[in-house]
Amino acid sequence: MHVPSSLFVSFHLLLAAAVVATAQNAPSLVRVGVILDLTLSIGHQGRIGIQMAVEDYYAAHPASATKVVLHFRDSEGDVLRAASAAMDLIKNAQVQAIIGPPTSAEAEFVSHIGDRAHVPVLSYSATSPELSAAQTPFFVRTTANDSFQTAPVAAVLRAFNWRAVAVLYEDSSYGMGILPALADALQGVSAKIMDRASVPSDADDARIDAVLYHLMAMPTRVFVVHMLYPLAARLFRRAKKAGMMSEEYVWVATDGVGGFIEWLSPENVDAMQGVVSLQPYVELTDDVKNFSARLRERSRLENPSDADVVNLTLMRLWSYDTAWAIASAVEAAGVPSPAFQTPQQGTALTDLDRLGVSATGATLLKAVLTTTFDGIAGKFKLVDGQLQLQAYEVVNIIGKGARTVGFWTPEFGITKDLNPDSAKVLKQILWPGEPRSTPKGWTVSPNGRMLLVAVPVKNGFKQFVDIAVNSTTGETKITGYCIDVFDEVMKSLPYPVSYRYVPNNDSFESYNNFVNLVRDQEVDMIVGDVTITASRMAEVDFTMPFTESGWSMVVTVQKDTSSTMWIFVQPLSTSLWLASLAFFIFTGFVVWMIEHRINPEFRGTPWQQFGLIFYFAFSTLVFSHKEKLESNLSRLVVIIWVFVVLILTSSYTASLTSMLTVQKLQPTVTNVRELQRRGHYIGYQEGSFIKSSLTKMGFEESKMRMYSSEDEYADALSRGSANGGVAAVFDEIPYLKLFLSQYCDGYMMVGPIYKTDGLAFVFPRDSSMTGDVSRGILTLAESEKMTKIEKAWFGEPGACRGPSSAAIGSSSNLSFQSFAGLFIITGVASSLMLLVYLATFAYRERDELRAAEPTAGSGSVSLRKLRAWMQHYDRKDLRSPTFKTWNDESLRNGNESGNRVPSPRWMGEGSQRNGATSPFSVSVRSEVNVVSSVEETPASDALDNSSEQEEEGATINSLEITQSPSFVQSSR
Ligand SMILES: *[C@@H]1O[C@H](CO)[C@@H](O)[C@H](O)[C@H]1NC(C)=O
Ligand SMILES: *[C@@H]1O[C@H](CO)[C@@H](O)[C@H](O)[C@H]1NC(C)=O
Ligand SMILES: *[C@@H]1O[C@H](CO)[C@@H](O)[C@H](O)[C@H]1NC(C)=O
Repeated sequence: MHVPSSLFVSFHLLLAAAVVATAQNAPSLVRVGVILDLTLSIGHQGRIGIQMAVEDYYAAHPASATKVVLHFRDSEGDVLRAASAAMDLIKNAQVQAIIGPPTSAEAEFVSHIGDRAHVPVLSYSATSPELSAAQTPFFVRTTANDSFQTAPVAAVLRAFNWRAVAVLYEDSSYGMGILPALADALQGVSAKIMDRASVPSDADDARIDAVLYHLMAMPTRVFVVHMLYPLAARLFRRAKKAGMMSEEYVWVATDGVGGFIEWLSPENVDAMQGVVSLQPYVELTDDVKNFSARLRERSRLENPSDADVVNLTLMRLWSYDTAWAIASAVEAAGVPSPAFQTPQQGTALTDLDRLGVSATGATLLKAVLTTTFDGIAGKFKLVDGQLQLQAYEVVNIIGKGARTVGFWTPEFGITKDLNPDSAKVLKQILWPGEPRSTPKGWTVSPNGRMLLVAVPVKNGFKQFVDIAVNSTTGETKITGYCIDVFDEVMKSLPYPVSYRYVPNNDSFESYNNFVNLVRDQEVDMIVGDVTITASRMAEVDFTMPFTESGWSMVVTVQKDTSSTMWIFVQPLSTSLWLASLAFFIFTGFVVWMIEHRINPEFRGTPWQQFGLIFYFAFSTLVFSHKEKLESNLSRLVVIIWVFVVLILTSSYTASLTSMLTVQKLQPTVTNVRELQRRGHYIGYQEGSFIKSSLTKMGFEESKMRMYSSEDEYADALSRGSANGGVAAVFDEIPYLKLFLSQYCDGYMMVGPIYKTDGLAFVFPRDSSMTGDVSRGILTLAESEKMTKIEKAWFGEPGACRGPSSAAIGSSSNLSFQSFAGLFIITGVASSLMLLVYLATFAYRERDELRAAEPTAGSGSVSLRKLRAWMQHYDRKDLRSPTFKTWNDESLRNGNESGNRVPSPRWMGEGSQRNGATSPFSVSVRSEVNVVSSVEETPASDALDNSSEQEEEGATINSLEITQSPSFVQSSR
């Protein structure tokens, strides 16, 4: 008894010692649950990865105070099993953290349980954005959520300019979670989700086919696929059977496909040829390779049947990093043994209510969230409870696997390489069916039916649309400007359109009925000279116009003879005529003023001098003035004046020339009122909307005549309203221009241009093509090609402009304004010279002027004084060279002949050069003597008779007015 009891005691002591030793040296154990789908080999490999991580961690940190003990549970891919496993782990195994159930649906349930029990739940594969740390704070995502990859998906669509897509998604919380973010991202690149089709994870082939055929009937050919690889693989196999893995089609898959390519069987990869997918980017470091090799080795040992699937996926890297993070966080938090508190509550329906709350959960969660380290899948750092990814790889599934065609990073978007400086494009992608060019992503006739395009049958203006039937072959050939433009636009569309032209006669009657063909769905669209009008717009859609807009009228022109008789006055405006006249007279007067006293040619009877002023000035017009000028002042005046005259005359000539050439043609009618007032007939084109517009303008229908070709227009216009023709033809600008280009002479476009919107193509209302075609038209209009097409059908623009509107009475005459500068120059110069002359005159003759007595007679004293001065001015300046030499000669002549007796006083004084008085007094005397010859000396008389015969009258005249005894006296 003793022995056993002592043995028992000693055993107890030993045990106690061992426990104490363990407490001091051995780390405290922290239980961590792991829920995986162990029915899948990916689950097994996850398990191995997690185990390896924990082992590696403690191998690297041997002195750890804690030790994670893993408890594995199998969810079998079932939400309830996963929940039940979580319950079991928390309740029975008392785990302090759970490493995540694989799917989003399982994770959602488990995270709620974890939240309740304050047990952090870390999932590396639940990517649905519907799960978030905001709702369940104890949920930690050690991967990115799916919203994150909507940006690279949108970037890929944007890179190829696809604007309409259909989305196929798995009908699960994983599949649906992405939709809101995807819709936002696509909107950001102005791509439209045309349709969304959900496929249940367990859908049979018939169900998948139904979805595919539905999508096939849609015009879009770009499909975005968001499903996990098992379903995706089946989908692509069905799609291949349905012929949707061929040319035209584009498939863009999320990382549900791209991240699992290694898990796909060769047949599945074969069905996915050409698919573009995303894949979180992980650098292939030595650690990764090493881990991969070890994992392969271990998985072969543990499960030899699994050996075929051994390649790397990110999931395994993340599982490793997640387990490492837990171990590291447990150590950092120093989490003690589990201490679950059972909540106090009355009734507990099931075990769920009896779940304890982990006392250490909050601490551990905090530790996990702040853990950072360099994991094998890159930097491990959690933000808002989820891992941050650095980049996505864009892969193209070709051959037996995937080829990287580019990268996407949040900072730089799409790039060829990870280097931020690399080109922002993807590498060459092999699309399904291996087409030569990038698919356009859209088909107009999804069922392969050709679109019917109605074209109007026309009698005239065939440059727009011409339908010619080859009599031998019976073929219809449709050509024309509209056809060329349409074909060109169709070629530029981002998707192929197959269409066929069908001529239609409805256009004869009215284009309104013609347009209704589209509304009634008899044809798919109309190409022709159809004008956009509000009433038509109510029935159909129009593209942007491809011609000029507006309508106007064309009338005949005739020679304008009305104003030819007086046309010579028209070049100059009245103000300019008057100003010129005034300056002619002024200049003539100034020259006369300056020359009068010193130049014999500017003397004579008042009438003669008056005439001379005009004659001299006007003769400068043709530079034919013969009068020799004596004063430099007047020469200067004349030089400047001649310059002005030169400019005036040449301007006049130019203006007159242009008037004579331009004003020959005038329109017969210039406005609509005139047409209405005179009751003229007017013409319009058959089928045109202009008829109703004319009626609205007040024209009577009985006064309208319908024509269908440009020849008929010309004929009707030339016959005129009175002879069964018309006075004006109303039509749209493109037609009128075409008409004028063919009938160059004799017609012109007049009047206002009424607003319409030009010719455009007709589509059914709300057609998805209208926008694309409009864009195509605008692009074409801005290009060289449009000009080429126009040239081909309508000839060189401006080749025949005819007597265009610019010609109508618009040649303006020259106004005073245009020459004001010249007049100022000559005016100022002339006035200045006159002032200089007067100043000199006043200065030189100051004594005589001062001495000049006001003449007797009426008027105030100053007036009379002025008169006296003027008399003085009127006399010859005998000191001037002309008169001096002339006087000398005449005196000599007088002496020689002996008839004239020179006055000794004159001789003496004339030879004197020292004073102003003496010669002046002589001249005064002589004039006085002429008049009062009776009382004067014979010498003076003789002088006057010989020298101033021609001036006698004037002198007498002036003296008769101004003579006064006192003046004569003072002269003496
Ligand atoms: C998903 O990830 C994006 C990008 O990291 C983030 O902005 C967003 O808040 C996340 N959504 C949820 C529900 O966690
Ligand atoms: C696994 O990777 C190796 C080398 O990277 C490759 O040769 C092999 O084909 C891959 N296996 C599968 C199933 O993808
Ligand atoms: C009609 O078609 C035939 C065969 O293509 C061709 O030789 C002939 O010139 C065409 N006739 C006309 C009027 O275009």
